[in-house]
Amino acid sequence: MGIYYDEKHQVFHLQTPGSSYCIQIVRDGYPGHLYWGRRIAVYRDAVPFDFIDRGFSPNPDPADRKFSLDNLPQEYPGYGNGDFGIPAYQAGQSNGSEICDLRYKTHRIFAGKPKLPGLPATYIEREDEADTLELVLEDAQTGLRAVLIYTVFNEYDAIARSVRFDHTGSDNLTLLRALSASIDFRDDEYDMLTFYGAHTNERNIARRPLMPGIQTAESRRGASSPQQNPFLALLRPGADEDNGEVYALNLVYSGNFIAQAEVQQYRTTRVSIGINPFGFSWQLTPGESFQTPETIMVYSAQGLGGMSRVFNRLYRTRLSRGKFRDAERPILINNWEATYFDFNAGKIEAIAREGKELGMELLVLDDGWFGKRDNDLSSLGDWTVDHRKLPEGLDNLARRITGMGMQFGLWFEPEMVSPDSELYRCHPDWCLHVADRPRTVGRNQLVLDLSRRDVCGYIVEAMSDILSSAPITYVKWDMNRHLTEIGSALLPAERQRETGHRYILGLYSVLDELTSAFPDVLFESCSSGGGRYDPGMLYYMPQTWASDNTDAISRLKVQYGNSMVYPAVSMGAHVSGVPNHQVNRITPLDTRGHVAMSGNFGYELDLTQMSPQEKITVKSQVALYKEIRSLIQFGEFYRILSPFEGNETAWAFVSDDQSEAVLAFFRVLSQPGERVPILKCKGLNPDYLYRHHETGKVYGGDELMYAGLTLPRIKGDFISLFWRFSKTGEQ
Ligand code: DGJ
Repeated sequence: MGIYYDEKHQVFHLQTPGSSYCIQIVRDGYPGHLYWGRRIAVYRDAVPFDFIDRGFSPNPDPADRKFSLDNLPQEYPGYGNGDFGIPAYQAGQSNGSEICDLRYKTHRIFAGKPKLPGLPATYIEREDEADTLELVLEDAQTGLRAVLIYTVFNEYDAIARSVRFDHTGSDNLTLLRALSASIDFRDDEYDMLTFYGAHTNERNIARRPLMPGIQTAESRRGASSPQQNPFLALLRPGADEDNGEVYALNLVYSGNFIAQAEVQQYRTTRVSIGINPFGFSWQLTPGESFQTPETIMVYSAQGLGGMSRVFNRLYRTRLSRGKFRDAERPILINNWEATYFDFNAGKIEAIAREGKELGMELLVLDDGWFGKRDNDLSSLGDWTVDHRKLPEGLDNLARRITGMGMQFGLWFEPEMVSPDSELYRCHPDWCLHVADRPRTVGRNQLVLDLSRRDVCGYIVEAMSDILSSAPITYVKWDMNRHLTEIGSALLPAERQRETGHRYILGLYSVLDELTSAFPDVLFESCSSGGGRYDPGMLYYMPQTWASDNTDAISRLKVQYGNSMVYPAVSMGAHVSGVPNHQVNRITPLDTRGHVAMSGNFGYELDLTQMSPQEKITVKSQVALYKEIRSLIQFGEFYRILSPFEGNETAWAFVSDDQSEAVLAFFRVLSQPGERVPILKCKGLNPDYLYRHHETGKVYGGDELMYAGLTLPRIKGDFISLFWRFSKTGEQ
């Protein structure tokens, strides 16, 4: 593992335990992309670049018709001197030109991984966990440098990649495009996999064969969004859950992004990912730098399952931070679907008391506790307690709840302001807006301009006041509308297109300040559910409310889709009431429990209205989750049957030492004439013997994985099984 430089051939070979990534400097200047794929011990020039005269391709050297950027697989392509594919960068100059020619200048290889100033990124805890290559390219005319930064992890098949632009020239430049990564594949034999969705319908999976031309996943909404996710994977056509090659890219960023694949004229494929150039530019004055967000690139030879396990583990251990990273997360009860805005201290206390009785550990008071917020028409920005609902104040309520032995958590939507609020009346220019244009509302609210330091300062101060005023150990950080009229009152005209990215940088700085100031508070990210479920947010907040859709059957897809990249511990999942508030479906309490227990578990319903029988079930669910919590939250996740492909869904959690496992099975509709279902587990040790808790029977790991287990015949819709296995010995 590590990074090797063959000086004679100017080849950089980046190695992870299972993958290799090779770059070659061509003709002393052009960084060419040689290879990304299964690990090879030494690169000995097996796949050299092909230099042939393509007739109409432009040639930088008139004496050499065989050399053209039109055909060279590149590492960080530009535009204007022969390459007509998607450029990775563009820089506008004072003479009106956007042409740049980045050529190799120098490089540096060192142990460790540099931090990215102001941006979330994967990290290491010891220098020997990773090695980094900085490849310095320069445009001689403008003095623009691009430092291509690659970090290989020694224990993960992942490469982190980003770019820092340093302006060493003397003339102002405008970055028009500054993508984080670009890779030229030598062929086009791939399927492309991306996620799509909507509010309450997040993380659906789209897989389609690559077609000639450009195919894109992107956001122009100011947030990574539920509509798309900053992720793109290329799969060999036969690759599936367990086999075949997958090349995946995920951007550690929470704003507008673009991820695209372009099948080019000679059936090669360029993939790139980064901040969406749409609506973006950045003024770079001499001496300044611009750092792009980080991309995590994962190569898997074990299909999507192999890819997911790398992402899941890397994000759980080297992206998430703070004291909660490795801590079991509390089972919570949230009052939102129980009361919506209609509650008082007594009601919240009663729900908490029931929760405590049933074994829950954290009461989360959701929207409606501040200002005069009886509905979504007002008060965002006014973070002062509503004494009509909580007459004895927040501290009093929090202490009553902590006095019961429950933790107390609180909802905020810090990035927003209601036009009907004291904050807006005092500071009408604090929201994103464009002078003289109407301000478009969403859910009756406007978005605060987080590109401004004073606005960020207000958020930190207002939240710090509340967090210091009561024993609060959990925050739900919501964000319920996308950005419109993306302009800032403080930026000059030529910098208005920086507003979207400055907003995200402002958000990250606020999160950095608050999470550092309150290290004992567990932060959960939310954007109308999973609308900003991305690695950028996971860096600051180790869990996310996965969807406002709490219906167990809908959740099978949401959670399955999320698991492709994001670990189960990061996925907030609650049992809610029936008929379900989003889809009106009635599902058994067991099934609701088993789906929610497959993530970061909690409840969101009026516990005081449950029947004694329901309470018995809930109590046993809570007790069971406590027993298996570390396995679910920190074990390996294996997808077995996909809800996108049939009536049945199954997945398994296996502990690192393979001694414990949970196998979950769900069937949506009962159907006549069904075959007897046999379910094959995954991830077990074939040499171990496992006791099946529910029957007491002992099976070999090989038997459970290769022959499978016959499931009982259960009639009815929306049924589930949740089985535990523990190692009893070896066979
Ligand atoms: C949207 C969130 O996703 C819900 O869980 C809830 O917190 C509401 N906002 C409150 O307004």
